[in-house]
Amino acid sequence: MRVQLLPRAERREKEKATCLCSATTYYKDFYPAVSMALFCCALVVRLGVFLSASATVIADTDYGGVPLWIDRMLGEPSVLSLQGRMNPAWFRANNPQICPQHCDCPIQWPTALYCDHRGQADIPDGLPDTTQYLFLQHNNISSLSSSVLVNITELRWLILDHNQLTSETLDRASLQNQTQLCYFFANNNHLTSVPDVLPAGLRQLRLAHNQISSIRPGAFQKLHNLTLLLLQGNRLQTITEGDLRGLISLNLLHLGGNLISSVPRHLPSSIQQLYLSNNSLSGLDNGSFTGLQKLKYLRLSHCGLTSAGVHPWVFNLSSLVELDLSYNKLTTIPTVPSSLQYLYLEANEIQEFNMTSFCREVGPLSYSRMKILRLDGNKVSYHQMSSDLIYCLRELESIYI
Ligand SMILES: *[C@@H]1O[C@H](CO)[C@@H](O)[C@H](O)[C@H]1NC(C)=O
Ligand SMILES: *[C@@H]1O[C@H](CO)[C@@H](O)[C@H](O)[C@H]1NC(C)=O
Ligand SMILES: *[C@@H]1O[C@H](CO)[C@@H](O)[C@H](O)[C@H]1NC(C)=O
Ligand SMILES: *[C@@H]1O[C@H](CO)[C@@H](O)[C@H](O)[C@H]1NC(C)=O
Ligand SMILES: *[C@@H]1O[C@H](CO)[C@@H](O)[C@H](O)[C@H]1NC(C)=O
Ligand SMILES: *[C@@H]1O[C@H](CO)[C@@H](O)[C@H](O)[C@H]1NC(C)=O
Ligand SMILES: *[C@@H]1O[C@H](CO)[C@@H](O)[C@H](O)[C@H]1NC(C)=O
Ligand SMILES: *[C@@H]1O[C@H](CO)[C@@H](O)[C@H](O)[C@H]1NC(C)=O
Repeated sequence: MRVQLLPRAERREKEKATCLCSATTYYKDFYPAVSMALFCCALVVRLGVFLSASATVIADTDYGGVPLWIDRMLGEPSVLSLQGRMNPAWFRANNPQICPQHCDCPIQWPTALYCDHRGQADIPDGLPDTTQYLFLQHNNISSLSSSVLVNITELRWLILDHNQLTSETLDRASLQNQTQLCYFFANNNHLTSVPDVLPAGLRQLRLAHNQISSIRPGAFQKLHNLTLLLLQGNRLQTITEGDLRGLISLNLLHLGGNLISSVPRHLPSSIQQLYLSNNSLSGLDNGSFTGLQKLKYLRLSHCGLTSAGVHPWVFNLSSLVELDLSYNKLTTIPTVPSSLQYLYLEANEIQEFNMTSFCREVGPLSYSRMKILRLDGNKVSYHQMSSDLIYCLRELESIYI
């Protein structure tokens, strides 16, 4: 169960910005804003209009319920798995098309091949040459050789999450000629480096929860169309200057849960969503985010940040919409830009509430656009807020304290 805090329009905007044709539960690990017990005992003060969508319980619908053929209009399959949706025997009995053993071939989508959740040690033989969407997740596949995909020339999605691939067994030549490939997912494998022979047309690369400690030189050089790169839950210590060179369209970069100790410099200037939570950062200086002029969503929770280690103006980025600094050791509220709409500061050590963090001045056009402010799990109380708060935080919809 999940409780939605962001207004629907906001969620939609974000979804659009990240994975246009993705079919995964992209939001699954994102904002279960009420997952922490802290919230239960927090006093929720609501100012102004209630959020229409606040506290609405929404169900994950992408893995069930939606018939596969509905999204056919959108031009891509709508589900990553047929598990539990349809009886495979029905396909076998009704589908005249040749279907490899251990796979399901939906009649409605002749170019999609579902061979997921089988415990298979190898990629099935006899894959149709016309395959465009290949689902191989949750198997026991330990290698991807160059010969297996050699006759498939129009592959668009290759989903290999939850297998046993290593950087040594992922043949460098296997993906080289896949000029149509736009999604390559290999989350939860045993890769130790980012492969360096990815096809140039790739739009999403998901390599979360591997053991990646390095990026091969030039790995991203040609990936001018890549918009989403997931590398969370790996063992990266640094991103050096040339590592991400070439990623001129990158929108979302997830580096959470690595071994990064300082915010990498030279990140692509196109980035709008930067996630660095669950790294032990030594601090943030005034240049930590310079060059990221489009940055809207910045997540830095569980980073061990202290107020002394955070430069007072580091978040003075006029593009910023959402800032997550929850679960750190901050004692004061940092200065944030007036454009900011969502500020998460729960579970810090904040003792004072100072209006200048939000408004340097208050006037007809000078006020904070803040909608949601979370301060629960701190040492600050509602009584510490002055009454002129309302002139600065004019658009505030919810404050958790
Ligand atoms: C996967 O392979 C390993 C050994 O290679 C084996 O021990 C394990 O049982 C296999 N898992 C499945 C689900 O078949
Ligand atoms: C690819 O096509 C050739 C020629 O039709 C055939 O001999 C070969 O077995 C095919 N390879 C695979 C992996 O399907
Ligand atoms: C890739 O294409 C080139 C040129 O068409 C060909 O020589 C090479 O054998 C192909 N590699 C693989 C792994 O299919
Ligand atoms: C990148 O995307 C553009 C626009 O969709 C497309 O024309 C171009 O061919 C793509 N580049 C590659 C290398 O596929
Ligand atoms: C960060 O770590 C916390 C505590 O270990 C965990 O609950 C949370 O899921 C992690 N988040 C990410 C994005 O890795
Ligand atoms: C950061 O601060 C230093 C010294 O305070 C200053 O020289 C430098 O120009 C500042 N850099 C930026 C990007 O503001
Ligand atoms: C904060 O950002 C604004 C707008 O970009 C700029 O005018 C101002 O000088 C910045 N303040 C500091 C102290 O860096
Ligand atoms: C709030 O912060 C400003 C600037 O940091 C400081 O001058 C002022 O004294 C603070 N006000 C209170 C009430 O602490």
